[in-house]
Amino acid sequence: MSGKGLEGVVAAATALSLVDGNAGRLIYRGYEIGDLAAHATFEETAYLLWYGRLPEERALVQLRTQMAEQRGLPESVISSIQAHPRAADPMSLLRTAVSALGSTGACDETPSLAQAISLTAKIPTILATFHRYRQGLPALPQRPDLSHTANYLYQLSGEEPTTSQARALEAYLVLTADHGMNASTFAARVIASTLSDLISSVTGAIGALKGPLHGGAPAKVAEMLAAIATPEQAEPWLRAKLERGERLMGFGHRAYKTEDPRAVALHKLAGELADTKDAPWLALAYQVEQIALRLLEQYKPGRKLYTNVEFYAAAVLRGVGLPADLYTPTFAASRIVGWTAHVLEQISDNRLIRPAADYVGPLDLPYLALAAR
Ligand code: ACO
Repeated sequence: MSGKGLEGVVAAATALSLVDGNAGRLIYRGYEIGDLAAHATFEETAYLLWYGRLPEERALVQLRTQMAEQRGLPESVISSIQAHPRAADPMSLLRTAVSALGSTGACDETPSLAQAISLTAKIPTILATFHRYRQGLPALPQRPDLSHTANYLYQLSGEEPTTSQARALEAYLVLTADHGMNASTFAARVIASTLSDLISSVTGAIGALKGPLHGGAPAKVAEMLAAIATPEQAEPWLRAKLERGERLMGFGHRAYKTEDPRAVALHKLAGELADTKDAPWLALAYQVEQIALRLLEQYKPGRKLYTNVEFYAAAVLRGVGLPADLYTPTFAASRIVGWTAHVLEQISDNRLIRPAADYVGPLDLPYLALAAR
């Protein structure tokens, strides 16, 4: 039997991203993630992942325009969002709203780049429409003059973000747009391999991302820091959790056995973003990280558990003003690029993904009639 959790199993060939877990490197189509996070916009990164090369200016302007034009939602999807309880979990809402887009016939045919662009453009609108609806506020008109990222922040709050807020969120979206054969991407590729439609692949991927072992961790990091509350309580709190055999959210990764390069970049961004009001929260995060790393080494020696992307994602997303329950949906707003690029890659050279299982149940049981059981 292969490794539990398919560890080490190569499930596909991809030209999209390379995760080098030992060297702590992440590369999108040949480019180091640190360079992209420092210089590239979200639209530029999406172009790179979808088309395989960095765009020239004209192509980039064209993609930006195309995405801005595709942001609006069909009436039926708006109604479906507003039919939800205001207290609904935004990740469940996103899964349902994306699925509702599938009933509009928009993505009935073979998955295409045009569908990928349209879906990517719409995800922030779904989230903002729901966020405003749950506060009893009307949705705002789109601002085509704003970038994908700045428009998302504007649609949520009604205020144009500062340059540093827009830049920090943009860097986060660039850093998390793709990541090899992660669980949600694998889910998307499995669905695509049956020759199903793009909406089905993305709906399945959102379901996979929702779990706390994957994309659901940053809100749990925020909860952890809120529960710890003061630097003095950090060590006893973390120790008690490890004593109970529980996991510390924001630490450990299947691929990275050294520092996660995304966590390194986000750590820096979080520091640049924190205003004085948030400085104590960030100082607590730094202290918790140091103590957690020391305790993980003590309780789980040799497991090579380092800070993962989700730990500082919580700090950056909080720093740009997002409520904790929008952290994972915002991750989806970024990873949609990777999911769709992987779906297109899968169907370009498809074979049904259908692994085997070792049967470990009984054999040769005699069938007993109901009355004899
Ligand atoms: N806290 C405490 N112990 C941990 C942690 C953690 N965060 N992560 C792993 N371990 C321990 C496990 O208990 C296990 O110990 P054992 O050998 O005594 O049984 C050992 O390290 C290996 O753990 P696995 O579950 O086999 O590691 P795997 O590669 O399957 O898991 C995962 C990776 C799921 C991310 C894990 O590290 C974890 O649960 N982390 C916390 C949740 C989290 O931060 N998720 C976000 C991940 S980033 C992303 O998906 C975008």
